[in-house]
Amino acid sequence: MSGKLIVFEGCEGGGKTTQIHLLKEWLNQKGISVTTTKEPGGTPLGQKLRHLILAPKQELITASVELLLYAADRAAHVEQVLRKELSAGKIVLCDRYVDSTVAYQGYGRGLDLNLISQLNQIATGGLQADLTFWLDVDVEVGLSRKRLNRDRLEQEDIAFHRRVHFGYAHIFAQDNKSHIRIDANNHPETVHKEIQKILLLKLQQWGYKQI
Ligand code: TYD
Repeated sequence: MSGKLIVFEGCEGGGKTTQIHLLKEWLNQKGISVTTTKEPGGTPLGQKLRHLILAPKQELITASVELLLYAADRAAHVEQVLRKELSAGKIVLCDRYVDSTVAYQGYGRGLDLNLISQLNQIATGGLQADLTFWLDVDVEVGLSRKRLNRDRLEQEDIAFHRRVHFGYAHIFAQDNKSHIRIDANNHPETVHKEIQKILLLKLQQWGYKQI
C-alpha cells in the first residue's frame, strides 16, 4: 500500500508542532509507522533555504524572490523526502505544504493566485496531500504565543497575518473532504482528540486494519 500525506497548516502560533508530535505518538502506539517533516527545511538544501528566507535581518527579499525560494524548497522536499517515504508506505505528517504558499504569498503578499497554482504544480509534480488540517487560531492569540525571537515572516504587521488567515478561510471553504478546519484556540489535548476522531475515520476509509 502506498502511504498517505497528512499536512498541517495555519497561521503563526496555531500549535502545529505540538499536534504533529502528539499524533505521531498516537499512531506509533497503534503500530503505524510515521515520518514527520516540514516546509521550509525538510531537506539539507531546504535547511539552507529556510535560513535564507526567515532570518530577520536580510538583504532585501522581494515577494517574488520569497515565492521562488519556497518553491525551490518544496521541489527538493517532494523529490527527496515525500515521494520516497510515501512509496515506502509511510504516513507522512508534514508541517506546511502548498496551501501555505497560497495563503502567505498569495493572500498575504498579494501575488497572483493562478501563477502560484502553476508554480505549486511544478514544485510538487502534482503530488497532493491526502488530508490537510487547518489549525485555526485567532491571529492575535497565535502571534502572542510567538512573542520572542520572531523570524522575518512573524515580524510582518497584523494586517499581513489577517490576510493570511483570510486566505486559509477561503482555501478551506472550497473543499471540506480533504481540508478540515480545527479550532486551535482550545487546549492542545482537546485539539488532539478532535484530530484523532477525524483521522480514525480516514484511516478506516484508507484500509488501515489495526485501527
Ligand atoms: P513554520 O516552520 O511553520 O514556522 P515556525 O516553525 O517557526 O512556527 O513556517 C515558517 C514560515 O514560513 C511561516 O511564517 C510561514 C512561512 N511560509 C510561507 O510564507 N510560504 C510557504 O510556502 C511556506 C511553506 C511557509
